Amino acid sequence: MADEPGQPPALTNLSLAEQAPEVETKQATGQIVTPFDVSGGVDESGKLLPVDYNKLVQQFGASPLTPDILERFERVTGHRPHRYMRRGIVFSHRDLSKILDCHEQGKPFYLYTGRGPSSDSMHLGHTGPFEFTKWLQDVFDVPLVIMMTDDEKFMHSQKIEIEDAKRYTKANVRDIIAVGFDMKKTFIFSDFEFVGGAFYENICRLAKRITINQIRGTFGFNDSNNIGEFHFCATQSATAFATSFPHIFGNDHKKAAKIPCLIPCAIDQDPYFRQCRDYAEKMKYKKPSLIHSIFLPALQGPGSKMSASIDSSAIFMNDTPKKIKDKINKFAFSGGGASAELHRENGGNTKVDVPFQYLTFFLEDDEELERIRVSYEKGEMMTGELKKRCIEELQAYVVGFQERRGKVTDEIVAEYMRARPLEWNGNPNPVQPEKK
Ligand code: TYM
Repeated sequence: MADEPGQPPALTNLSLAEQAPEVETKQATGQIVTPFDVSGGVDESGKLLPVDYNKLVQQFGASPLTPDILERFERVTGHRPHRYMRRGIVFSHRDLSKILDCHEQGKPFYLYTGRGPSSDSMHLGHTGPFEFTKWLQDVFDVPLVIMMTDDEKFMHSQKIEIEDAKRYTKANVRDIIAVGFDMKKTFIFSDFEFVGGAFYENICRLAKRITINQIRGTFGFNDSNNIGEFHFCATQSATAFATSFPHIFGNDHKKAAKIPCLIPCAIDQDPYFRQCRDYAEKMKYKKPSLIHSIFLPALQGPGSKMSASIDSSAIFMNDTPKKIKDKINKFAFSGGGASAELHRENGGNTKVDVPFQYLTFFLEDDEELERIRVSYEKGEMMTGELKKRCIEELQAYVVGFQERRGKVTDEIVAEYMRARPLEWNGNPNPVQPEKK
C-alpha cells in the first residue's frame, strides 16, 4: 500500500497514539508521565488504563503531528515519513516546522538524543527512538550528539554505584552503535567523562536560572529528592545548545548560538526540555525542537512502558531467540477472546493486544500489518498465530542487532566517543526563503 507523495498517512486506523485513549478515556484518572514514572492510571476497579496520549499532548502543551506537517516533511525532505510517523508512534512535536525551515534553507542544525544507562543491555523500547534518530540522520545528513547520562542514573537510583553506571555506559554505547549511526556524523559522550569546558558553562548558565520550585512542579520531586537530581535537569538540557560542543560547531560562540537542535525521544523526556525551552532565548540561544514517540508497552499491557528496571516487562537486546519466544508466550498481554470459540465469535482487540502493538512498531510492511489487523479483529487469526508472527519478527530484529553489535570493537567505541570535528553535508539543494 504505497502512500501517494504528499498524502496523509494511509494507516490512520492503526495510529497507536489515537487508539489507546478510545479504550478507557472517561475513567483515565491518575495518569503519570515523567522521566521516572509512566502509568496510564487505574480505573475504579483497579484496572490499569492505557496511557492517554491525546491528553498528554494537551497537558504538556506540545503539538500533535498532523497530516499537514507530515506532508510538509515529505515535501521538504523528499522522503516518505518513517513508519513510526505514518502509524502515530511518533505522534507529537515542538517546533518541528522550524527544523524543516532550516533544512529547506540549508541552515545548520543538529540532532540530539540520549540514554540513561541503567542496565547491561538496552531493551526493545529503547532501540525505537535510536532507530528513528538514525533514520532522521540519514534523511537530514546532519551531526548527531548522543548523551549517556551515567550521572543521572547514579544519582537517581539507590542501587546503582558509579562503577555500575560506567559499565552500563560502555555496554549501552555498543548497543547504540549497533543501530548503525554514521561515525563521521556522530559524537557519543558520557557525562562522567565529558562534563567540563563549554558544556559545563552551559550547565551553569541553566542551573543559575532554574528554580527548585520549577523542578518540583515539572518532575514531581519533593524535599526528599537529592540535590543531584535537581541539578541534573540543567545537565540534560545543556546538550541542547550547540555552544556546548566547540569541537563540532566551532569556537565562535555567537555563530554556534544560532544553531538549533531537534530532539527525538519518547514523550517521558519532554519535561527536561520544557525547562530548557523556557530559558533558551533569555540565554540568546535557539529553543530546541522536539519530536516525541509513544512508549513501546510493557509485555503486561499498554498501561505502562517497557522498562529496564522491571525484568519481566521487557525484551532485552541480549535475549536469546528462545527467551524472546518464552517471554511473548508467557507474559505478552493478549487482546484475544477468552476461549477459541469466543475469539472466533467476537474477534480480538488489537488496541490492547501487546503482540499486535509490537508488530506495529517493528513490521515494516504496511499491507501485511493491515491484513493481520483485519483478520485478528474478525476472529479469523487466532492469538497463537499472532504471537508466532510477532515472535518471528522480534527474533529476526534482535538477531540482526546482535550480529551488528558483535562487530563493534573497543577501538570503534573509542572513536565514536572521541571529541572531534564531525563531517556532514545537510541539504544539497537548499532554497532561499521568499522575501516578505
Ligand atoms: P532512557 O535511557 O530512559 O531512554 C532512552 C530513550 O528511550 C526512550 N524510551 C522508550 N521509548 C519507547 N518505549 C519505551 N518503553 C521506552 N523507554 C524509554 C526514552 O524516551 C529515550 O528517548 N535521561 C534520558 C537520557 C537522555 C535523553 C536525552 C533521552 C539524555 N538526553 C535526550 C532522549 C533525548 C534517559 O534516561 O533515557
